[in-house]
Amino acid sequence: MPDKRKIIIDTDPGQDDAVAILLALASPELDVLGLTAVAGNVPLHLTQKNAMKICELAGKPETKVFSGAIRPLVRQLVTAEEVHGKTGLNGPDLPEPTMKLQDKHAVEFIIETIMGEAPAAVTLCPLGPLTNIALAMSREPRIVPRIQEIVLMGGGLFEGGNVTPAAEFNIYVDPHAADIVLKCGAPIVMMPLDVTHKALTTAKRIAAFRALGTRVGVATAELLEFFERFDEDKYGTDGGPLHDPCVIAYLLKPELFTGRFINVSVETASELTMGMTVADWWGVTKREKNVTYMRDINHEGFYALLTERLARLP
Ligand code: BDR
Ligand code: CA
Repeated sequence: MPDKRKIIIDTDPGQDDAVAILLALASPELDVLGLTAVAGNVPLHLTQKNAMKICELAGKPETKVFSGAIRPLVRQLVTAEEVHGKTGLNGPDLPEPTMKLQDKHAVEFIIETIMGEAPAAVTLCPLGPLTNIALAMSREPRIVPRIQEIVLMGGGLFEGGNVTPAAEFNIYVDPHAADIVLKCGAPIVMMPLDVTHKALTTAKRIAAFRALGTRVGVATAELLEFFERFDEDKYGTDGGPLHDPCVIAYLLKPELFTGRFINVSVETASELTMGMTVADWWGVTKREKNVTYMRDINHEGFYALLTERLARLP
């Protein structure tokens, strides 16, 4: 097998973050250098604990988990307990983690790792608000040309927003951080709502996770059953969108996704459209292209990959 791809997962678990982390930890092609927690779906003290719970669920307590930004760069923190529940991981009854957080701050870890590895050796996988990533870039701009790729979940164009009519949650929570990241110049792949809303957690797919009969399979089913209820009510669908695992699936099988290289800019001034990703899909501006913006997913292939990989965990 070629060298494993080195990744840092920046995350605010969140049930869908949890499934993304499980997918990464189950995949031998990936070397998860660390998980960096950020405030988002729930406050930081919960997202960092949840990240550790998931590592232990996966049977990988040796995974390094770092605590990051407690609030967005400029705006007040907005959380999403109505979607994810009070703990952020409502659904299964997962034990309190026994592993410990790393001493280093997440931003320090991101900088030291990227500066310490060979150029273009580290891929960043942001699954939450982009606060930690923007802080790292601002504190040490020399990391930017050394990043292999940033593959992130965020934004939306054809689907509109999910937290406001215009904005997707991760970008809305810290639009100023998103602005820094989108303008940084490193290669960026974006998994917006346009993709994730085509990857529904149908009853049949959840049954397939449960049928694995493993603790991870059953916990995944329980996580997703809780997670989907909000969007099923909202959209009237069988299942809800499974956002964050699309990022990890892209690293494993990019051929599952199709998109275009376009300009994406973020709104940081208007309260009405705050955090909107203005994606120039049709090339009507001369703004410089900065993002490979995904629009479609082979959802059958995506769930087949996910189920096959989760089956490898205990
Ligand atoms: C994104 O927001 C969070 O609720 C999910 O974890 C995902 O990262 C979807 O808008
Ligand atoms: Ca997330």
